Amino acid sequence: MLKRPRRNRVSASVRGLVQETHLEVNHLVFPLFLLDGEKIRSEVPSLPGIFRLSLDQILKEVEQCLTLGLTSFIMFPAVSEALKDKIGSYGYNPANFYLKAATNIKKRFPECTLISDVAMDPYNADGHDGLVRAGKVVNDDSLGILAKMAVAQAEAGFDILGPSDMMDGRVGAIRQALDGAGFTDTGIMSYTAKYASAFYGPFRDALDSAPKAGGDIPKDKKTYQMNPANKREALIEAELDTAEGADYLMVKPAVNYLDVIHLLKTNFNLPIAAYHVSGECAMLLAACRNGWLDFDSAMPETLMGIRRAGADVVITYFAKIYAEMKAKGQL
Ligand code: PBG
Repeated sequence: MLKRPRRNRVSASVRGLVQETHLEVNHLVFPLFLLDGEKIRSEVPSLPGIFRLSLDQILKEVEQCLTLGLTSFIMFPAVSEALKDKIGSYGYNPANFYLKAATNIKKRFPECTLISDVAMDPYNADGHDGLVRAGKVVNDDSLGILAKMAVAQAEAGFDILGPSDMMDGRVGAIRQALDGAGFTDTGIMSYTAKYASAFYGPFRDALDSAPKAGGDIPKDKKTYQMNPANKREALIEAELDTAEGADYLMVKPAVNYLDVIHLLKTNFNLPIAAYHVSGECAMLLAACRNGWLDFDSAMPETLMGIRRAGADVVITYFAKIYAEMKAKGQL
């Protein structure tokens, strides 16, 4: 035999020489769930090990992560029902605890990167990412609200905004509003190919943000999030987001959509982000807790797979634990 691929696998050192993909802590983004109040740590039942935290606890969490070299965070608010209305107005209310928290975090830790969520669902009494009118999630009239949220978030100090709503034209509307208000350095990480997925369950539990049942409220998000059966359509979304001024293109979820990550990576030159979503993390945790999989090897293999597919940035609930394992020399 002239060719023996095993020669390049004979030792850890040789395997290190020829390793094609690397996953460093600086590629990771850690999601944070923010609750209003003080001294609250409330575990998400369907995502064990992940907590909804009040600001004081988030500051501690960020401080710990920074010592591990984990510097990027994406934050989501859990908003009480009393603050929700049909137009999601609390989203751009200057008294909003999410906006105030961002200002606090950036003041205390200016070196971190703080990414927001731009969508109406945390604030919308209907639980949808856009305005619901006569049984439909309307597109164009949602854009002004999203743009107002975006400017409020930029004012609060978020470094990068994450439109997760999937309304058509929202990246352009947000970019224009930001530039008009002087926030030319605030980035946009667009949820470009966000699928109508069953894997957002634990996230919606954490924030109580699922579409509300009943009346003429659409029961799912299929008229705006993408059909899981489609791949070429992701190219259309990516072309639009690129033209409208996005700084990152995101694919979400990640593990079931590795082909989409690869497709965008090979066709576009913007950095590609992949969101390893709550349900994908939950199912891995569940198998490990049952003793069916080994977490310490299955988790890094999963994250490496997302990166090998083409993700520059990986958003995952395992970011902190990965950083801890790296710090201990386990990876
Ligand atoms: C809402 C939003 C969702 C997620 C991020 N932003 C849920 C949804 O679209 O219903 C899901 C993230 C996760 O499951 O980890 N705009």
